[in-house]
Amino acid sequence: MLTVQNLHLQRGGKAVLHGIDLSIQPGQICALLGANGAGKSSTVMAIAGVLPVQSGSILLNQQPLHGLRPERVRAAGVAVVPEGHKVLGDLSIVDNLRVAASNLPAGQVNAQVERVLDIFPELRPKLLLPARALSGGQKQMVCIAQALVVMPRFLIIDELSLGLSPLIVQRLAAVVREVAQQGVGVLLIEQFTSLALDIASQAYVLERGRLAFAGDSPTLRAQPDILHSSYLG
Ligand SMILES: Nc1ncnc2c1ncn2[C@@H]1O[C@H](COP(=O)(O)OP(=O)(O)OP(=O)(O)O)[C@@H](O)[C@H]1O
Ligand SMILES: [Mg+2]
Repeated sequence: MLTVQNLHLQRGGKAVLHGIDLSIQPGQICALLGANGAGKSSTVMAIAGVLPVQSGSILLNQQPLHGLRPERVRAAGVAVVPEGHKVLGDLSIVDNLRVAASNLPAGQVNAQVERVLDIFPELRPKLLLPARALSGGQKQMVCIAQALVVMPRFLIIDELSLGLSPLIVQRLAAVVREVAQQGVGVLLIEQFTSLALDIASQAYVLERGRLAFAGDSPTLRAQPDILHSSYLG
């Protein structure tokens, strides 16, 4: 289980998270929702080890992740797809995947690259193209594949659909479901709340660095005023 307990975080000397509690079970999809600036990416970056936490804890099966460097967090089994689907544009797709897999034992790299290409077979005909030649949706596929190539137990996606076409978004949503069905716990940040609540069984709503809601998705859907007031500030 991945748990965040009473997480406090500052950025640029300003408190942006004021005591956040989250928990994600294996195979569960949790949505993290909230308006611009609510603190979603800050939460993701804290879990990823990119931003230092002021206080509170981030635990993977009771073991602390807070204080670990990003590569150690990843090695422990928590893979993050950061906002903005950035790839290494000059490298081919297959090299982007190999770079992401480079901390695996050498004998596993090819097998894991093959496994993620089975998840995104549409990338196979483009493997040798420089990643900058891809569409935004294809880049997001590469980013998700880069996260999955290390066989994470938890996957965190910051903005699944931002800037992507509806068709691609449906495809990515199907992959997220499939990955969760294999037992991976997913924390999903998604601007389209209805999509997020369709995919996720659990939901958290952040409002200016505090949780305005934590519970199951149907409960949140039945109380649209919570989302409205959070998004309107
Ligand atoms: N690089 C930074 N330095 C200082 N403060 C920052 C920085 N980036 C974000 N913040 C502040 O941290 C708070 C939370 O921002 P964050 O990016 O986590 O929100 P978010 O929920 O991901 O928003 P969005 O929906 O726009 O991605 C905001 O008040 C924001 O102004
Ligand atoms: Mg963000």
